[in-house]
Amino acid sequence: MDIVVISIGGSILVPDDHDTSYITELAGMLAKISKHVKLFVVVGGGRISRYYIKLGRELGADESYLDDVGIEVTRLNARMMITALGKLAYHTPAMNFDEAITASRNHDIVVMGGTHPGHTTDAVSAMLGERVGATRLINATSVDGVYTEDPKKNPDAERLPVVSFDELIRICLKVEGGAGPNVVFDPLGAKIISRAGIETRIVHGRDLVQLEKAILGQDFHGTIVSAAGAAEREG
Ligand code: UTP
Repeated sequence: MDIVVISIGGSILVPDDHDTSYITELAGMLAKISKHVKLFVVVGGGRISRYYIKLGRELGADESYLDDVGIEVTRLNARMMITALGKLAYHTPAMNFDEAITASRNHDIVVMGGTHPGHTTDAVSAMLGERVGATRLINATSVDGVYTEDPKKNPDAERLPVVSFDELIRICLKVEGGAGPNVVFDPLGAKIISRAGIETRIVHGRDLVQLEKAILGQDFHGTIVSAAGAAEREG
């Protein structure tokens, strides 16, 4: 059975835009396909973590304390995902990779949030993917793929259907400074998928049809990050 790790940004899960219906439909889709693929879901913090991090920073907290605040919010969001999945999911967010692996032995789906200060849940999903020997990693995010430039700033930016690990690392590093949630993938996560050689698919997380196809390894609308990259693009 394929092992798939899905990174779902908090900006997809809880943007305060039909969250109940989206999470219900997402859980229904994951439940349906969990008979065919082993699923690990890593949930981000989104606007709620940003609110608390901003508030804590204004109150004088240091950055690693604020990272811990962000991690707690990712685990709250993970609890919402677990609630929607019901009995199929391990009952609580796994606190680390060992717990996730143990829980996966007798649960169809394991959900977790962040782990340690200093990175985002994209990096967590890459590390988890490496630990569980994932067949593929899915980044369900707020853009429908990797673009030549930020598509929210430049309408002429082009979506790249395929990129190499090195190209992704370059793109993530280029936009890192102050770009915040616009970074398509955490640079640390990009380095880990590269060293582990995990095929990664970037897909719009609110497009459940394309998300399901991406998870199942079918053709989908988005970007595939793989060792081949540019060579494959050029045919
Ligand atoms: P996210 O993974 O959601 O960050 O974690 P993000 O990518 O900036 O936000 P979205 O969800 O894609 O919009 C939220 C925050 O929690 C802390 C970081 O401060 C991060 O910005 N965090 C999360 C950690 O420090 N370690 C982790 O393992 C996960």
